Amino acid sequence: MSHHSPIGIFDSGFGGLTIFRKIRELMPQYDYIYLGDNARTPYGNRSFETVLKFTAEGVQYLFSQGCPLIIIACNTASAKALRSIQQQYLPKTYPERRVLGMIRPTVESIQNKTRSNTVALWGTAGTVNSQSFVLEMVNHAPKVELIQQACPLLVPLVEAGELEGEGLEYFIKKYWKQTEIQNPKIDTLLLACTHYPLLKNKIEKILPKNIQILSQDELVAPSLAEYLQRHPEMELLITTGGNCRYLTTDQCDHFDHLARIFMGQEITSEKIELKEVKLLDNPRHVSLNAEKESAAG
Ligand code: DGL
Repeated sequence: MSHHSPIGIFDSGFGGLTIFRKIRELMPQYDYIYLGDNARTPYGNRSFETVLKFTAEGVQYLFSQGCPLIIIACNTASAKALRSIQQQYLPKTYPERRVLGMIRPTVESIQNKTRSNTVALWGTAGTVNSQSFVLEMVNHAPKVELIQQACPLLVPLVEAGELEGEGLEYFIKKYWKQTEIQNPKIDTLLLACTHYPLLKNKIEKILPKNIQILSQDELVAPSLAEYLQRHPEMELLITTGGNCRYLTTDQCDHFDHLARIFMGQEITSEKIELKEVKLLDNPRHVSLNAEKESAAG
């Protein structure tokens, strides 16, 4: 029997596929398992406790499949659950394995990209309210002022396949108006939700030409490649061959249909059930400290 120890990619649903697509393009040699918790998506408006519970269950499942390294390819889960998982769950259960998130690699790459040191962030309400990006900026991009704007309707529009059209345009204009009014010096917009890379072209057409748009899929994949270079002991554990499994907690046909849009190729998924995980003391306190280690760390 062949032994696989793939890189695990976890997301609340489809969004993480935008990140995974770039990771796989950059590092096609590794084996991967993608897990989307589609039965319980979206996570964007859920509480700390709930996002932590769901994320821990996904992480536990991917570990049970032999993943030595998991990327939480979801900003909301990275903002609300990653720190608790890294600090409380991993040391007790899988001290030699690693779980990395989205926030730190994103923040570390921002600092060299803004000239006015004023960056806007669009994300889910959960990501914005967690303040995780702001806290991480204090350590890794202290000169940059971050203007946050929650865009709660963009995820449902993407999931409804509305990647063009007047409805989408209306909300992009509305969110931009609410953003720029907070600080006219903004020169960069960070798309801090895994669904938004699919809207990048549309957003670029609507926003003023002097605003640079940064999409996380372009930031996180190179950061993971660097991480693996710096951690050969981890790299050696990951099996190669380019095998890829797609798991979902909801109906496969729905997953396969939308995943095709995100990945730009035919996908065949498997349905799985997640089990409860025994955790954790004080998730809110721990999560607010943002990420301990990242693809860049
Ligand atoms: N993947 C989530 C994120 O990046 C968006 C979808 C959700 O709300 O679950 O924040």
